[in-house]
Amino acid sequence: MAHAPKLDVKQDAALLVLGLESSCDETAASVLRRYTDGRVDILSNIVASQDEEHRPFGGVVPEIAARAHMRKIEPILAKAIKTSGVAWDDLDGIAATAGPGLIGGVITGLMGAKGLAMALGKPLIAVNHLEGHALSPRLTEDCPFPYLLLLVSGGHSQLLAVTGLGQYERLGSTVDDAAGEAFDKTAKVMGLGFPGGPQVQNWAARGKPDAIKLPRPMKGRDHADFSFAGLKTAVARAWEASDKTDTAKADIAASFQRAMTDTILDRVGRAMTLYRRTTGEEGQARIVVAGGVAANTELRAGLKAMAETRDFDFIAPPLKFCGDNAAMIALAGAERLAAGMIDTYDAPARPRWPLDTDAAATAPKSGYGKKGPKS
Ligand code: KG4
Ligand code: ZN
Repeated sequence: MAHAPKLDVKQDAALLVLGLESSCDETAASVLRRYTDGRVDILSNIVASQDEEHRPFGGVVPEIAARAHMRKIEPILAKAIKTSGVAWDDLDGIAATAGPGLIGGVITGLMGAKGLAMALGKPLIAVNHLEGHALSPRLTEDCPFPYLLLLVSGGHSQLLAVTGLGQYERLGSTVDDAAGEAFDKTAKVMGLGFPGGPQVQNWAARGKPDAIKLPRPMKGRDHADFSFAGLKTAVARAWEASDKTDTAKADIAASFQRAMTDTILDRVGRAMTLYRRTTGEEGQARIVVAGGVAANTELRAGLKAMAETRDFDFIAPPLKFCGDNAAMIALAGAERLAAGMIDTYDAPARPRWPLDTDAAATAPKSGYGKKGPKS
């Protein structure tokens, strides 16, 4: 039976927290200091991507990911501590992603964190990866609760009302694939390379966004859910029917990117209405975008323009904090630690772990994608 150490959190002082992230294909460690007023100093933020390992397969292979995390986690940890300039003993807590994600990777990071926490006699914070993304704007911005979050990555596509620490209401989510998966699949079908999002964006810059007619799944629906599977299939058909020239690649990439942007913006518009209903906020509100797909320039521009017309401030964290990173996990850990929300040393690794408490009833019935569970 594992025991948490006696809670001795410095409520009135800055907290120094180490975070670990290993739920998909990035092995990452970060040390940060969070002050009681919410300001954050990121002392180190080390991310080792596994793109090279997975590139030959055109997607993330769970077994390869787990082995790569095992190889990389120790040197990444050592580098994060060394770069931060802090001593192990100065840490106030150890935070690690405990799910959702590819279970082999999650176990690797969580076990590492448990070993460290036990050896150092420090509190362990088992962080929900999605909470890391949800809090990521608070790494660099003064972003008080509540706010609307659009989380679009290779594993997740969700719209959430973030009303407080540990308080998330899901306004919409994908019923099939994640947005990043659609970008990756589109790139794969046309042989553009991996990861697909940036490649599609590059090719799209040379193409005509109205060249190919593609569907806008869920557009105009009353709820704020997404669906990307049909769009993915339509792109594969369009490529099959094309003359497979570079012009065709550019036109299909541009048309796909426009369809994705239109679809996401339509769903965000719906979520803005639901968000105001949920929070009762009437004046200026905030919308935040996070996840790897948040790097897409067309999407960012569209969101910014839409936010203005709907009286929302648009917050897009720097790209390095949009994709998977450990600083966001360390921050979630520090916020939880400050609130006295720590975990026992036998906290489980959870491949599926919805962020919102009432998600069990509404969670989409989907399985694992190439980038992990579509939670
Ligand atoms: O958040 P992330 O780094 O990892 C996951 O949790 O999945 O997101 C990776 C996803 C990939 O699907 C990648 O193709 C996509 O983000 N992505 C982009 C762009 N950059 C990365 N999608 C569209 N446009 C981009 N510029
Ligand atoms: Zn993520």
